[in-house]
Amino acid sequence: MKAWKGKRVLITGAAAGIGRALAERLGARGAELILTDRDEAPLAATADAIRGAGAIATHHVLDVTKGAAILQVRDAIHASGGPIDVLVNNAGVVFGGAFLDVPLQKHLDTFSVNVLGLVSMTNAFLADLVGRPRAHLVNVASAAGLTAVPFASTYASSKWAVVGFSESIRLELARLGHRHVHVTTVCPLYVSTGLFEGARPPLFTSMLTAAQLADEIVEGVERDDVFVRTPWLVKLVPFLNGVLPTRLADALSTALGAAGSMEQWTGRAPEAPKAPARRASGRRPR
Ligand SMILES: NC(=O)c1ccc[n+]([C@@H]2O[C@H](COP(=O)([O-])OP(=O)(O)OC[C@H]3O[C@@H](n4cnc5c(N)ncnc54)[C@H](O)[C@@H]3O)[C@@H](O)[C@H]2O)c1
Repeated sequence: MKAWKGKRVLITGAAAGIGRALAERLGARGAELILTDRDEAPLAATADAIRGAGAIATHHVLDVTKGAAILQVRDAIHASGGPIDVLVNNAGVVFGGAFLDVPLQKHLDTFSVNVLGLVSMTNAFLADLVGRPRAHLVNVASAAGLTAVPFASTYASSKWAVVGFSESIRLELARLGHRHVHVTTVCPLYVSTGLFEGARPPLFTSMLTAAQLADEIVEGVERDDVFVRTPWLVKLVPFLNGVLPTRLADALSTALGAAGSMEQWTGRAPEAPKAPARRASGRRPR
C-alpha cells in the first residue's frame, strides 16, 4: 500500500493506544478512516480529534465479538461509501496472572476478542479487499505470538493463533491468485499504552510508544512487509526458538528477563487483579 489518499481504512480498537496512533498517521496521509471500538465515548472523542486535525473519519461503535453487529456495521459502511481497502484488526485485551488466579471467563474473553473477533472481522471484510485493485489486511498480533509468555498463557496463545491465521490467510490469498491483497502481521514487544502496565521489557529493550509502533506499522505496510517485528530482539525470536534446544531457549528467555516479564503485570484499572499477593495457584511470583 504505497499511497493512502482516498483509501478506505477500517481500524478496530481505534479509540485508544496503538489503534488511535495509527489512525492519526493514516488520517494525515489522506486515508478515509472508519474508526471502530466497543467503547463509545473514547471512540467519539478520538474521531472528533482526528477530524479536528483535518482528516476524513467516520466512526461506528463495534464490539468485534458480536457477529451480528459486525454485519450491520459492514452494511452501513457499504451504504455510506462502499467497500474498504484496508482492514486493521487491532482490538485486543489481556488479563495477566498465574493461570489459576485469573477467572476462566477472562481467559475465554481473551480468545473471544483476540482470536474470534479478528476472524469474524476478516470473514466480514475479506471479500471487500479481494474486490479492490490493491488492498491490505493488517493483523496486530504480538511478540507473545512468537514465544512462550508465563503469566499470560491465554494472551500468548491467542496471539499464536493470530500469527498462524494471518500467515495462512496470506499464503491462501496468494494461491488463490489474489496477490493484490497483502497481509502484514504485527508483532511488537511491550508498548506504553497502559494495557501492559507493570510488565517489564526484557534486557536490551525498552517500552515502545504507540507513536513509534504506528510509524513502524505504516512503513511496514507501505513496503508490503509480511511481518513488523519490533524492537530488534523480536526479529531473532523465531530463529532462536527454531535452532536452540528448548531448555536452552528457556534459559535464554529467563536470562533476558522475557520469561518473567509479565509477573508484575497490573494492567490498567479495573482489569488489574484485586489481590495479586493471594494467589489461588499457591505460587509466589519470582
Ligand atoms: N500495548 C502493548 O504492549 C501491546 C504489545 C503487543 C501487542 N499489542 C496488541 O496491540 C493491540 C492494541 O493494543 P493497545 O496497547 O493499543 O491496547 P488499548 O487497550 O490501549 O487499546 C485497545 C482498544 O481496543 C478496544 N477493544 C477491546 N476489546 C474490544 C472489542 N471486543 N471490540 C472492539 N474494541 C475492543 C478497547 O476499547 C481499546 O480502545 C492489541 O491487539 C494488543 O494485544 C499491544
